[in-house]
Amino acid sequence: MKVSAALIMSSLVVHQAIFFVLFFCINQAIPSEAARSNGGLVAKTCKKIAADDPAVDYAFCLTSLQSGKHSNTADLRGLGIIASNLARINATRSRRKAQNLKKKATDLYDKTRLADCEELFQLAVSSLRDSTRAFRGERYDDANINLSAAMTDAETCDDGFAEMEGHVSPLTKETRNLKGLCAVGLGITWLLTRR
Ligand SMILES: *[C@@H]1O[C@H](CO)[C@@H](O)[C@H](O)[C@H]1NC(C)=O
Ligand SMILES: *[C@@H]1O[C@H](CO)[C@@H](O)[C@H](O)[C@H]1NC(C)=O
Repeated sequence: MKVSAALIMSSLVVHQAIFFVLFFCINQAIPSEAARSNGGLVAKTCKKIAADDPAVDYAFCLTSLQSGKHSNTADLRGLGIIASNLARINATRSRRKAQNLKKKATDLYDKTRLADCEELFQLAVSSLRDSTRAFRGERYDDANINLSAAMTDAETCDDGFAEMEGHVSPLTKETRNLKGLCAVGLGITWLLTRR
């Protein structure tokens, strides 16, 4: 009886020791949120970009980048990746919307333009996939080229409708959003190459 009580006691001590060692290790491995934070880099970056480029809206930049995972701990290159990814996801959604509208369209002119837009958004998706890769590889000039291409694709989609009187693009919200996200990404490439 005495022996087993002693055993239980010693095993308790060992467990407690292991617990403390583990607790200490975990505490060391996970730095506090404050230590990992990038000191409001999203706000600083958006302020700079909006000042440089009147096409960029500060509030749009802020809410967009903040919606990205880990944007509060990312560095500037990381924010470029976030902008690029958001734009790609948006272009994918816009392509799907163009496709659905095309199926429903009864007007031949609109149907043709929507088919163009579907193709243009697909091109934008490819460009934005490449711009994310370029940010990852620290090739910021390439990222700039790919983001500009995606922006032009969105503009070309809108222009198709504007060319014909009486036709209005049903995708202006989508193209405005995509162009805005590309502009944020472009601003980040400028800040990265300026340093
Ligand atoms: C992205 O840019 C690079 C470098 O300019 C170019 O080689 C590549 O073809 C572009 N990607 C797309 C999908 O346009
Ligand atoms: C993508 O675009 C849609 C509008 O087409 C918008 O509602 C949504 O918030 C956008 N997503 C991002 C991440 O900007």
